[in-house]
This record gives sequence, C-alpha cells and structure tokens, in this order.
Amino acid sequence: MSKEFDVVVIGGGPGGYVAAIRASQLGFNTACIDATSDKDGKASLGGTCLNVGCIPSKALLQSSENYFNAAHHFGDHGISTGTLKMDVSKMLARKQEIITKNTGGIAYLFKKNKVTSFHGVGAFKAKAGDAYLLEAKLADGTIEEITAKHVIIATGSSVRQLPGVTIDNHLVLDNEGALAIPSVPKRLGVIGAGVIGLEMGSVWKRLGSEVTVLEAMPAFLGAADEQVAREAKKFLTKETGLVINTGVKIGEIKAGKKDVTVHWTDTAGAEQVSVFDKLVVAIGRVPNTAGLNAEAVGLALTERGQIEVNDDCQSNLPNVWAIGDVVRGPMLAHKASDEGVAVAERIAGQHPHIDFNNIPWVIYTSPEIAWVGKTEEQLKAAGVEYKKGQFLFSANGRALALGEGKGFVKMLADKTTDRILGVHIVGPFASELIAEAVVAMEFNASSEDIARIVHAHPSLSEALHEAALACDKRGLHS
Ligand code: FAD
Ligand code: NAI
Repeated sequence: MSKEFDVVVIGGGPGGYVAAIRASQLGFNTACIDATSDKDGKASLGGTCLNVGCIPSKALLQSSENYFNAAHHFGDHGISTGTLKMDVSKMLARKQEIITKNTGGIAYLFKKNKVTSFHGVGAFKAKAGDAYLLEAKLADGTIEEITAKHVIIATGSSVRQLPGVTIDNHLVLDNEGALAIPSVPKRLGVIGAGVIGLEMGSVWKRLGSEVTVLEAMPAFLGAADEQVAREAKKFLTKETGLVINTGVKIGEIKAGKKDVTVHWTDTAGAEQVSVFDKLVVAIGRVPNTAGLNAEAVGLALTERGQIEVNDDCQSNLPNVWAIGDVVRGPMLAHKASDEGVAVAERIAGQHPHIDFNNIPWVIYTSPEIAWVGKTEEQLKAAGVEYKKGQFLFSANGRALALGEGKGFVKMLADKTTDRILGVHIVGPFASELIAEAVVAMEFNASSEDIARIVHAHPSLSEALHEAALACDKRGLHS
C-alpha cells in the first residue's frame, strides 16, 4: 500500500523545505523526500545551501576575515595581538556546528509544521489516475511507495564537471572539498572566477594560501555592472591578494600524488604551467534530474537538462511543479525559497507573484558586492535613458569608523520618470544594504523617494541616501 499525500516535495533544500512548510501551513497533507545525509548517514535537511553551500561558506568567510583583520588591520586600531595563531580544524568544527544547528532547525520546523520527512532518493514510478506514484529508496535500504496529488521537484544542482578531470575532493575539489581543506594549502588553484571561485579563493587567501584564479571569459564578473566589476577586481587583487587571470584556456590537468599540474593558455596566447597543492573547480552547476525517472511520466526537460517550467513553475505535466536550481533563472537560495512559497500558494488556488527583475545578487567577498535590477550596460543596450547617482564609502563616516571606506553605491533611475531601475553596491555590508534597494524597487520607488526618507546617522545606509540625492545632482556630502 502506498502512503498518500496531497503534496510531495522531492528535495529538501531552501526551495523544497520552504515549499513543504508553506504547503503544510496551507492545510495540505505534505511530505518531503530528501537524499542528503550527514557524515553519520543521518538525514541532513537544507540541501546544498545548508550542508555545502551558502551557510558553511559564510562561516568560513567570517573566520578567515577575522583572521585577516587580526593580522592586517587590528594595528590600525592600536590593538596588537602578539603572535597570531590559526587552528583550521577548529574553524572547520565551528562551521560544522553551524551546519548542524541549521539542518536540525529544518527537522524541527518539519515536525512543528507536520511535514512528513522521508530520508532517501525520490523518483517517479507511474501516473496514478490524476495523481502520481512515486518511489522513495530510503537510506535504510527500504523502498516506500508514495502517491501524490501534487509533486514539487526541488532537486537542486551539482557541480559542473570539467571534461577529463576527476574531482576526488582530496587534490581536485568541488565546493564540498573547498569547504573542508584540513590545512591551509601553500598553492591553491581555482578554475572559474564566478561566485564560488571568488568566495572560496578569498577564504583560503586570507588564511595564507597563494591563490591563482583561472577564468575562461575575458571579462571579470560578466553578470555584474562593469564599473562594480572593475572596482571589485581592484580590491580582490590588491587587498585580498588573489591573482586573477581572465581570458584563459584550460588545457591538460594532471593530478599527481601530492599536487596538481594545470596547463593553460593565457589571454595573450602564451602557454603556462602551474602546479597547485589543491585545485578547486568552480565552473558553474548543473541541474539534478538524473535520478528522477522523468521518462516514466513524460516530464519534459530543456536542452540544458533543467526541468521545463513556465513563469509559474508549472511543468508540462498537470500538478507537477519544479523550483530552484533545477529550473531556469539564477541559482540562488532566496530565489528557490520564494518559488517554493509561490508554488504552494498556487496549489492552494492563490495568485502569488515573483518579480524576477528584483532578485538581489550578493557576493560575500571583501568588500561585498551586491546588486538588484539592471546594470548600466543592460540599460544602454535596451536604449533606456537613465540618470545615475553615485556615492563613495570613503565619504561615509560609519564606513570610515569601521575601517571600510572603500567602494561605492550606484543608483540608476529612469531619466523621465525617476523610477529606480538598478542599484549596485561594492562595499561594506553590501549584502544588508541591498535590501533597502529591493524594497524600493518592489514598490516602484523613485530615486526621490529614497532621497526623502530619513536614514540613521551615522550608518552605511546614508550612502544609499546620498546616491539617491546624486541622481538629482543634489548630493550633500559629495
Ligand atoms: P539544493 O539546495 O541543491 O537542494 C536539493 C536537495 O535535493 C539536496 O538535498 C539533494 O540531496 C536533494 N535531492 C536531489 N535529487 C534528489 C532525489 N531524486 N530525491 C531526493 N532528494 C534529492 N545561494 C545564495 O543565495 N547565497 C549564497 O550565499 C550561496 N552560497 C553558495 C555557496 C556555495 C559553495 C554553493 C555551492 C552554492 C551557494 N549558493 C548560494 C547557491 C544555493 O546553494 C542554491 O541556489 C540553493 O541551494 C538551491 O536550492 P534548491 O532547493 O533548488 O536545491
Ligand atoms: P558561476 O556561474 O558563478 O561561475 C563560473 C565561472 O566559471 C564563470 O565565470 C565561467 O565563465 C567560468 N568558467 C566556465 N567554464 C570554464 C572553464 N572551462 N575554464 C575556466 N573558467 C570557466 O558558478 P559557480 O561559481 O560554480 O557557482 C555556481 C552557482 O552557485 C552560481 O551561479 C551562484 O548562483 C551560486 N552561488 C551563489 C553564491 C552567492 O549568492 N553568494 C555563492 C556561491 C555560489
């Protein structure tokens, strides 16, 4: 006999677990099947984000930033520490504690919201009238048959493999390995100057590695506003000390017993050979659909292997939905979660809406990089006339007090209507500051709206205020 549910979510990452909680809140009998295990083989909800992504990377970014500041910036405050020591195993243990607290928190939320949790791999078996018959291969070896009126697929993504290179998470690492290097490698190579490459490269550089980043694209951070990307590259190379090579072509990669040799061609066409103690491969991620048995029910995939969905996350099959990294759009945890909530509400007959233009992006390097809406390049390409207001953190009292007077806020607003079209920040706590811009854009605010709002003094948010004033050429402190 199969167990019957109104809604079954496959995947317990930030897309899936949030969808399950919301579906249950809306009165549906809900289950979630998730395959991730901890090192003891127990269920570890939260997906990539909590186990090997957002949260552990931010834990290590914080530890390494503290170490870097103690080594390089405490002196500016008149604080000396004597000989500084680092215990990488303790940093990793702290990271693990944070993961465990978070994943345990999801298990608690499932209990609280009466979501039934299956620990194993879920797949389609057949259609069952208007419903779907699923099979969960549980971690204890048993098989559970489950019938679902609605299925939400939230199986996430995995690292994109570089052809001919085996990731062993000992010498050649993906995100999981990069988050668990047991001691600081002397020479760290990173393939891909994307978000993971820059965040993980920063962690290990701050802790003492020589870090060389090899990026295929000629432009650095192609998705970001060009001015922001230029400023970020300046700080990441000069202050953090990353060596960033763009426009390279990766050739043969050979893992030896203790190191990895990478042959590559630089942007001028010269052959280069680098030897690294560890190599991180971070060249993007691919959707997880292989284990779903999509063929059994005729679930359509795109050419890129994502589940094909419309703007509402509906697949080609009635009552089958897909959200998060496994579908089109940015691979971001908050995008996955918001799609999860929206799908649960659609199943309940509600009409939620997500504005994909207003999804914030954050890169947690030092300084942080964050943006929402259109870049200057996108506006130019679309022929939109805009005005621009900019403010430097070097003129913001709070930033100087923090010792973080670098970077800027740039606001772009429509030349005629003054509606805010994009906000781009490189600087301290950009991850937090961007929230005001997201709220403003969601409410179709004008730059004048922000200019007329009282911002606390002294605060970093005054930089956003000043950027808004500068859109009207009436900046007070620049
Ligand atoms: P996932 O989190 O990948 O979860 C999918 C879950 O489904 C997993 O638990 C998987 O085991 C399970 N699963 C897969 N197939 C099956 C199956 N057949 N049956 C059962 N279970 C299955 N995003 C941000 O917004 N901010 C960040 O700071 C950030 N940092 C990141 C850092 C790193 C190093 C990485 C790798 C990613 C980071 N991301 C960040 C991206 C973020 O982790 C993803 O966008 C997010 O986790 C996607 O959520 P999801 O629910 O779609 O999938
Ligand atoms: P990415 O897409 O951000 O960057 C991959 C980089 O690798 C690109 O710059 C690409 O041009 C380059 N590349 C591709 N093939 C290459 C090759 N053969 N040789 C050299 N370079 C090559 O992907 P990344 O960093 O792997 O991260 C995956 C996803 O995870 C991101 O898209 C992001 O959405 C998410 N993420 C988000 C974070 C955040 O929000 N702070 C942090 C980390 C990851």
